[in-house]
Amino acid sequence: MNQNLRINGERLLSRLAEMAQIGATEKGGVCRVALSDEDKVGRDLFIEWCQAANCDIAVDQIGNIFARRNGSNEDSPAILTGSHLDSQPTGGKFDGVYGVLAALEVLETLNDHDITTIHPLEIVSWTNEEGARFAPGLTGSGVYTGVFDLEEAYACVDKDGFILGEELLRIGYAGIAAPGGRSIKAALEIHIEQGPILEEEGIPIGVVHGVQGMYWYDLVFEGQEAHAGTTPMERRKDPVAAAVSVIEKIYQLNDIYAPQGRATFGDFIVEPGSRNTVPGKLTVTLDYRHPEEAVLRTVDSEVRSIVDAESETRRIKGWVDEIWYMPPVTFSAECIAAVQHAADQLGYPSREMVSGAGHDAMYLAQVAPTGMIFIPCDNGLSHNELENAQSEDLIAGGNVLLHAILELANPQVN
Ligand code: GLV
Ligand code: MN
Ligand code: MN
Repeated sequence: MNQNLRINGERLLSRLAEMAQIGATEKGGVCRVALSDEDKVGRDLFIEWCQAANCDIAVDQIGNIFARRNGSNEDSPAILTGSHLDSQPTGGKFDGVYGVLAALEVLETLNDHDITTIHPLEIVSWTNEEGARFAPGLTGSGVYTGVFDLEEAYACVDKDGFILGEELLRIGYAGIAAPGGRSIKAALEIHIEQGPILEEEGIPIGVVHGVQGMYWYDLVFEGQEAHAGTTPMERRKDPVAAAVSVIEKIYQLNDIYAPQGRATFGDFIVEPGSRNTVPGKLTVTLDYRHPEEAVLRTVDSEVRSIVDAESETRRIKGWVDEIWYMPPVTFSAECIAAVQHAADQLGYPSREMVSGAGHDAMYLAQVAPTGMIFIPCDNGLSHNELENAQSEDLIAGGNVLLHAILELANPQVN
């Protein structure tokens, strides 16, 4: 009976556009990094919309927001759906926020048509998914699932010395509910693909079967500060020289695991950071990803050997700090099937895929059957202010989310 049901695409698009004004950048992107003033304004607006849609709001101690729509059987576990509202510093208008607002659109569509589901529905907005300001990312879902300790997450410090727990309090989102323990039957997260596959193949829906694994490291090189004009090259203990060789060797190592291996050196922190002083210390971040756990383990030990060997050659101290390890994840068969059925029933071409990006769904999969839906984004571009997605794809994804949720929540029509 609900087969002809469709989301209100105009409402979804207009909410996405309104949210994109919060932290809007000149190049058309968004800067709404976790626990910033902009993050607070975005959260407030989201809650206002959820309350207008008659949802009950709960905020837990790590700042995750849950908006609940009752089911006809309130003793039954909920279907959880959502993503994150925080962005990269030069982020786009869809990464994360699409998953949160598409979830809201699904609930509002059910309200509009007076449809009650047996299982309650909950929208979630997780805290600090990106890890751009406070590393590592997936903080909210990691604390929720018990992977991270709450106190340790509170103690996380950003580059400017701001402390996560204090920033959470400052923006008014240190809630009272203990993280975790909600009764969840299944969880779905919809997201832009953030890569080129769907667009290249002209397919609107990705049925996501899993997520590749990743390591985050700090590669630290400690040499000796010295005068740039007077210190002969051969007398220097130059951390930059060591880092350059290490980076070159890690790129070569990654060639062995092409095309799936991905090595990214995203940040360089040079100390003291003066143009006429040979630096005393250089920290280089490495994000390494691959779908196979065995490859990740091999790369891990190779990276450590490369750093040791090059540091010795350059007569400096070098070491590897592991910031985060996230093994590859396989999603639940029930959730994958619900997404596939929804795409088929709606007549949207779809393909199976493995996510290249990390998502809160990775942690959630440890405590509940979980799945994801992808839609294409222009030129496969994300973590970029030019990130964009086509309206018809955003709407198609919303419809797939709606019908997958209906299947999981066993709908009843009043
Ligand atoms: C999440 O944004 C990631 O880095 O994959
Ligand atoms: Mn995201
Ligand atoms: Mn992201």
